[in-house]
Amino acid sequence: MKPDILLVEPMMPLIEAKLDDAYKVHRLYDPAQKQTIDAAAGSIRGVVTGGGTGLANDWIERLPALGIIAINGVGTDKVDLPFARANNVHVTTTPGVLTDDVADIGIALMLAVMRRITEGDRMVRDGRWAKGEAFPLGSSPKGKRLGILGLGQIGRALSRRGEAFGMSVRYYNRSPVTDVNWSACATPVELAGDSDVLAVCIAASSATRNIVDQPVLDALGKSGILVNVARGTVVDEDALVQSLKSGKIAGAGLDVFVGEPRIRPEFASLPNTALMPHQGSATLETRLAMGEMVLANLAAYFAGEKPPTTVN
Ligand code: 8YV
Repeated sequence: MKPDILLVEPMMPLIEAKLDDAYKVHRLYDPAQKQTIDAAAGSIRGVVTGGGTGLANDWIERLPALGIIAINGVGTDKVDLPFARANNVHVTTTPGVLTDDVADIGIALMLAVMRRITEGDRMVRDGRWAKGEAFPLGSSPKGKRLGILGLGQIGRALSRRGEAFGMSVRYYNRSPVTDVNWSACATPVELAGDSDVLAVCIAASSATRNIVDQPVLDALGKSGILVNVARGTVVDEDALVQSLKSGKIAGAGLDVFVGEPRIRPEFASLPNTALMPHQGSATLETRLAMGEMVLANLAAYFAGEKPPTTVN
């Protein structure tokens, strides 16, 4: 008999087909399945979820046979790891395969703000270019200072890309880093004060909540640009909205938001933002590779082996 698993959010059709081959898949995102999920709760042994979605503790409590939460992503902030451990539930992620795509989105958002891509796109579509409206000059990344907040795999990939655009790199990392030549800053405020673009790549946790706060934004300054490809919760969004509105910083490129997908309306009405609906890892190639890692983790767990990319 196929083991029962709960799929919290949709995956690529090819990956879902492979899940269906191996498991009895209950789809939490399908409202029509609510009753069958309630009835199957006692036999569900695995959960597959997204990094931005995770799994609430009451689900862990509701699924007594649960043994694995396979996250289709690298963020573990939406799963209570100690609680999962206490309930003997493995938690796995998909490290490595999404690094480059997330770094690419960081660069895309940075360039979008510096070169005013969203403003230009609106002007062309609205027919204002044809009417002779002037377009303001952008700014060049070449020669600018790129500050990386959180020098993990994604932060490093973003640094290398920044260097390819002629930027100099400095970083802040919570634990010491010894294997890079980029200069380290002692605090996020020091980093922001020494950056033209501050790129947030730090993992979300209770320790990093609102790590980008008003003092950090003040230090970034009126020509500074914030890029966030990590999680909305690592930025104090009240402070960010105020800083954007009042010109305390120049602009922001954001892939992630507090309370996404329902974001603060101010982000959309401000001209100096470039916004994406949490698409950092969302390419065909990467989502396929992530899906295969999810499948491998589930297969190992159900074969009685240690899942290859367990974090907990
Ligand atoms: C994905 C993510 O968008 O890796 C993460 O933690 O948030 C993203 O890669 C997500 O996991 C897919 O739902």
